[in-house]
Amino acid sequence: MLEYKNNFLFIDEVSVLNISTGIDTPFYLYSKNKLLKNYAEINNSFKKANHIICYAVKANENPYLLRILAKNGCGCDIVSIGELNLALKAGINPKKIVFAGVGKQENEIRAAIKSDILMFNIESIPELYSIDRIAKLLNKTARIAFRVNPDIDAKTHPHITTGLSHNKFGLTFKEAYEGYLLAKGLKNIEIVGIHTHIGSQITDSASFVLASKKVAGYISKLKAAGINLKYIDMGGGLGIRYKDEKVINPSDYADAILKYLPKNHTIILEPGRFLVAETGVLITKVIYVKKTLKKKFLVVDAGMNDLVRPAIYGAYHEIIPVKWKNGKQHNWDIVGPICESSDVFAKDRLMPLASEGDYLAILCAGAYGYSMSSNYNMRPRPAEIIIENNKWRIIRKREIL
Ligand code: LLP
Repeated sequence: MLEYKNNFLFIDEVSVLNISTGIDTPFYLYSKNKLLKNYAEINNSFKKANHIICYAVKANENPYLLRILAKNGCGCDIVSIGELNLALKAGINPKKIVFAGVGKQENEIRAAIKSDILMFNIESIPELYSIDRIAKLLNKTARIAFRVNPDIDAKTHPHITTGLSHNKFGLTFKEAYEGYLLAKGLKNIEIVGIHTHIGSQITDSASFVLASKKVAGYISKLKAAGINLKYIDMGGGLGIRYKDEKVINPSDYADAILKYLPKNHTIILEPGRFLVAETGVLITKVIYVKKTLKKKFLVVDAGMNDLVRPAIYGAYHEIIPVKWKNGKQHNWDIVGPICESSDVFAKDRLMPLASEGDYLAILCAGAYGYSMSSNYNMRPRPAEIIIENNKWRIIRKREIL
């Protein structure tokens, strides 16, 4: 979606400079084309199986993006009543909503049962009892799956791995087995599935193969105990290329997942990052060029409150100028205005000469960008803009504080 024409950066035929000069920076800029392309790619990869794509709302909860996905038949993976309400308001079919999270609260469970969501992905036995109790009060039956923690090292950043036995997520196979047996005896619970999610930004397909093998073996064991499931929810986690990672392409991902799973089930996938990361960039302006004895800094107007991934995970995001300048490249530290040493987007990054007022694009910022933004240092959250039909428009205004 990104292309330089005569040294000016374009996204889907729209000049980023033209947008940048017409609106306050920083702002997130999304491409509808890219979102639809990613959705079609993952959806088509799984077409040989009955499947539902349940987009992980936490990756980017912009209501406009959710509406686009809803219109295209996408479901959602939610983790709070806030995400439930957003998804429903955006027109997501409740029968395609799955609800994960280790700390589901009473009001959240009640709202989800009332909305008749597809299923709760249960993460503990006390949660099972809560859901049964609340369903009973509402005179309803709640559909459930247990989230199993298969103890797999997904070889990703320790902060975003979830499928290891010391992580707080899910139940061991053994605990879940007891859970299924208990659930069988509960009147207001209907067992419909199994769930697993081993981590995020996974680039090693062997982890997905191992997860699906383990889940497949477990499903046979449950079957032998008279527990038959309709849905197998394999979570999200498909990684993208931020720098030079060798990523798994969606059809290999589908093969890795589908190869060992039994055929007569509906497979659920919960991609977050894959759908939206490359759909969005964060546009920021250079406020000052600061040269010290040791360093050359570009102080920009976006900060870790706008995009926190580099600060908390040491995440790499490519940064490119909105107007390319030919000539010698320099090593820059690109830093935000926030009073924290970790407010750094890049260190010693080779880029053309830059001056005050230049615009930069921070790439792959569509996932866990705006959704993890904050008002730290009393800074307003940025605007969000979409390019569709080769025109741009604001889909969320910059906050006023
Ligand atoms: N399903 C569940 C149950 C999840 O917890 C997550 C992400 C997903 C699906 C979506 O995973 P994805 O396809 O996006 O990898 N803030 C971190 C990522 C945290 C992921 C949390 N769970 C980051 O910026 O890298």
